Amino acid sequence: HEPLRDAAERQGITLGFALTPGHLNDPGYRAIAEREFNLVVAENAMKWDATEPSQGSYSWGQADQVADFAAAQDADLYGHTLVWHSQLPGWAEGITDPTRLRDAMYDHIDAVAGRYAGDVDSWDVVNEMWEQDGSRRQSVFQRVLGDGYIADALTRARQAAPDADLCLNDYSTDGINAKSTAMYDLVADLLADGVPIDCVGFQSHLIVGQVPSTYQQNLQRFADLGVDVRITELDVRMNVPASTTDLAQQARDYRAVVEACLAVDRCTGVTVWGIDDGHSWVPDVFGGQGAALPWDAQYRAKPAYTAIAEALGAQ
Ligand code: G3I
Repeated sequence: HEPLRDAAERQGITLGFALTPGHLNDPGYRAIAEREFNLVVAENAMKWDATEPSQGSYSWGQADQVADFAAAQDADLYGHTLVWHSQLPGWAEGITDPTRLRDAMYDHIDAVAGRYAGDVDSWDVVNEMWEQDGSRRQSVFQRVLGDGYIADALTRARQAAPDADLCLNDYSTDGINAKSTAMYDLVADLLADGVPIDCVGFQSHLIVGQVPSTYQQNLQRFADLGVDVRITELDVRMNVPASTTDLAQQARDYRAVVEACLAVDRCTGVTVWGIDDGHSWVPDVFGGQGAALPWDAQYRAKPAYTAIAEALGAQ
């Protein structure tokens, strides 16, 4: 059947993947990257530690490779991420003075969002700001700058990249729960205060058989607030070696996620967090688990790939 990107385009959404540019040297990886997707996000290359390893000294090599690949593919470029507690260089993590930290955050946003202004279609401006119970994560930004750092980052990003959509992104906010409700309340407050916010990302790092029952309803309630929504980092992990039963369930899970997005008018699309099971963050973090992506480590399409194609109505 046709490439997934063509089917996605007909459905009015984008199908994305997280790119690590070094993997493009592998012909199997490159072939899928070039054929199937019409949106690209950097898996790591646009993060703070990659772009500003020491203060005021920027490093663009990998990030530019991601931007260039997206342009060559005529794909959208999604920016990930400007303000995040993880993959934050030690020099930034260690700042204790509010003025110095706010200046460092603004300089970083100006430099990174400014460099890709006009190229990046949407930015994850702030990533992973919530604890599971819906309280604020005590990142350096939260501790030193207080609750207002999110509004400040969004406002600054709008100045640096006036044409980009500005998003907040988190994990375990995929169904209706305390964490997603905290995000919902924040977005409502930001909109009421006139702070620039255009979209919310739902990472959707899921466990096989556990797509939340309120998945679509949750997307819809954010859309009803007046923001776009997107599935930003989809993968569905399981115990390895994968059983046939789990791979079939995984296919149903991928299908359910794509169908939920298609059912919500303001869902702009789905991004898969990688391509193949041989290059996935999952086994590094969850011992004994993996097989989370639509292609296996030999780049063979799994049932999940077929399920995405069917959900998109690929011809
Ligand atoms: O760059 C260094 C390299 O110099 C070093 O030799 C090597 C040795 O371990 O590590 C390399 O850094 C690794 C980096 O990926 C780049 O490959 C880190 O150890 C590793 O921890 C890091 O993992 C990334 C992870 O974010 C870090 O938080 C994953 O690739 C990436 O998939 C993952 O993505 C996150 C999203 O950004 C946010 N949401 C959750 C998602 C999954 O954790």
